[in-house]
Amino acid sequence: MRFLVLSDLHSNLEALQAVLGYARGLRYERVLVLGDVVGYGPDPNAVIEVLRGLPGLAAIRGNHDKVASGIEDGEDFNEAASAAALWTRGVLAPGNLEWLHGLPRGPLEFAPGRYLAHGTPHDEDRYLLDEGEARRSFGALSFDLCFFGHSHFPCAFTLDRERVGLQLARVEPTIFALGAGRRALVNPGSLGQPRDRNPKSSFALYDDALGSVTVYRVAYPLETTGEKIRAAGLPHALAERLRIGV
Ligand SMILES: [Fe+2]
Repeated sequence: MRFLVLSDLHSNLEALQAVLGYARGLRYERVLVLGDVVGYGPDPNAVIEVLRGLPGLAAIRGNHDKVASGIEDGEDFNEAASAAALWTRGVLAPGNLEWLHGLPRGPLEFAPGRYLAHGTPHDEDRYLLDEGEARRSFGALSFDLCFFGHSHFPCAFTLDRERVGLQLARVEPTIFALGAGRRALVNPGSLGQPRDRNPKSSFALYDDALGSVTVYRVAYPLETTGEKIRAAGLPHALAERLRIGV
């Protein structure tokens, strides 16, 4: 089966449309979402409505989804993140707010031995950025493959016997081979707010028959998203960071 893997969409409708347009040729059957559907961006309702219509959707919540839906107050958020989360809470249609509020906490097992997480498998709010945190993550949960997001940085941590490795998604596309006996933690990158100095939207295709995850990058009209951010009265810095991918 082929799975489309999306993370950190952050209310970016133009990026979502570009990714779904590109992915039409990839023949996926299910869609996996790793949280942070909303926050930062200007189109929370439209993004949620598009997701709700996708086939075989399995989705978990992210920290921004918790704050925007009133589960948490976001006291640890910076000023721009907090302003956007509160703005989102105010504009969400009741049905979309309810859907967001009801997203399960990760880790979520979407297939035997395969999971979705937002931060790490053991803490949905924790960043997985280095080999030490990856080793703790491999020890915290029994899995063959776990997708994660939150850092907005496409990469794969692997565990072969006792050795933890890190592969970055530097070329377009990048293919991560899963292989027998190799455990993996894979981040598809951020669809709606990339932070690896590549402003193109990032997502992945997981093919369980081939045993591979491919990370793709797709350009989208980010100036349009930026104009919408400014028109909504959201912090202008949120538009600027989309242009440079940070
Ligand atoms: Fe995020």
